[in-house]
Amino acid sequence: MSSAANLRPANDSQVPNDLAAWWLPFTANRAFKARPRLIAGAKGMYYYTPDGRAVLDGAAGLWCCNAGHNRDEVVAAIQAQAAELDFAPAFQFGHPKAFALASRVAALAPGDLDHVFFTNSGSEAVDTALKIALAYWNISGQGGRTRLIGRERGYHGVGFGGISVGGIVNNRKFFGNALAGVDHLPHTYNRAEQAYSRGEPEWGGHLADALEPIIALHDASTIAAVIVEPMSGSTGVLPPPKGYLQRLRQICDRHGILLIFDEVITGFGRLGFPFAAERYGVVPDMITFAKGVNSGAVPMGGVIVRKGIHDAFMKGPEWGIELFHGYTYSAHPLACAAGLAAQDLYRDERLFERARELEGAWADAIFTLKGAPNVIDIRTIGLVAAIELASKPGAVGARAYEAMERGFNEFGLMMRIAGDTIALSPPLVISQDEIGELVEKMGKVLRAIG
Ligand SMILES: Cc1ncc(COP(=O)(O)O)c(C=O)c1O
Repeated sequence: MSSAANLRPANDSQVPNDLAAWWLPFTANRAFKARPRLIAGAKGMYYYTPDGRAVLDGAAGLWCCNAGHNRDEVVAAIQAQAAELDFAPAFQFGHPKAFALASRVAALAPGDLDHVFFTNSGSEAVDTALKIALAYWNISGQGGRTRLIGRERGYHGVGFGGISVGGIVNNRKFFGNALAGVDHLPHTYNRAEQAYSRGEPEWGGHLADALEPIIALHDASTIAAVIVEPMSGSTGVLPPPKGYLQRLRQICDRHGILLIFDEVITGFGRLGFPFAAERYGVVPDMITFAKGVNSGAVPMGGVIVRKGIHDAFMKGPEWGIELFHGYTYSAHPLACAAGLAAQDLYRDERLFERARELEGAWADAIFTLKGAPNVIDIRTIGLVAAIELASKPGAVGARAYEAMERGFNEFGLMMRIAGDTIALSPPLVISQDEIGELVEKMGKVLRAIG
């Protein structure tokens, strides 16, 4: 048990009396309410239950809290901002920290990705990027470019745009036909060719070429944009095969198609760079971000847009609105204040570089779990790992669910699951000792579950 284990006093008053009213998102509600996993506090690498039990955060919350939890600097920035300016409209007005944060984010992005449009979530960021792509072609005399291309197993949030280009079946099949005119690339996972790869798999770069027949079928003049996660996260961590993203960029360039990287997970250091775009030496036309922008402290997302696209909108009468899109809470002052404080921590503590430096030790530690019961694949990249378990016959997801539940309740470890894949993505402040603690706990969980 870590020395941090008893940082939080027991506080049973934080246990709710009635769990009925809240319908939890992406949750097995009945199982949760029968055996709730309640979180009452957090500090650094740990969550704390209402009775003061420490749970090591192996998931950075939900891929968000890259600087660790409840960092004093972020807390102070939010408190000061709440006292100074609670809300300012972003339609026709602006507050200084929004401009400051946009400049900081743009400065981290490669190439001429110079302009930032703020949203409140990754889903909104994705829908915003898709709308900017469509509007860009509309105002550029190529209004026929309306098709959007996503990828199987892609996760782009839960808006209608995001589920249309997304490729996770359960996120799509219940919700009607979604957007018309969308097509999908094949996903990049092939266990027979890639099992137990560290970093980018050797096999699979050629799968980017599958874009060519899609373009041939629809004709490039009808295609607005291709959107992919550089590393598919929510489907269970699929690192891009070597050369894949570079090939996708080349094909898009050849046909004048915009390329959008959804970096809601990979942004802000997860793969050892400010953005995965830099890791792969690929400049997309837009990058979507959220989560890590302010270490998950206040809802926020956004789109970083290349200069040429942004500038194409800056025409017409000066008093005229250039893009009919935005959210009441775009660039909310609390989110911006938290963002500036988190960005300072990332810079001052070299957290992106730290993730890069830890990548080898992290992979070494995770790969010690090879051979644990039911493990059929392990994938690592940056400070991310996937442990894929064999599914129980007729009960896909049940084994990983048990791992998640018992990990939290019995072994003091929070993990994320997707089907029967366990995804690990700790805060970037994790120490070598804490990596050891995480892997030890993970091993115990794997040996304990059925
Ligand atoms: C790649 C990607 N895009 C979009 C989203 C949606 O973000 P949000 O849940 O903030 O709407 C996520 C969330 O995990 C994501 O991983």
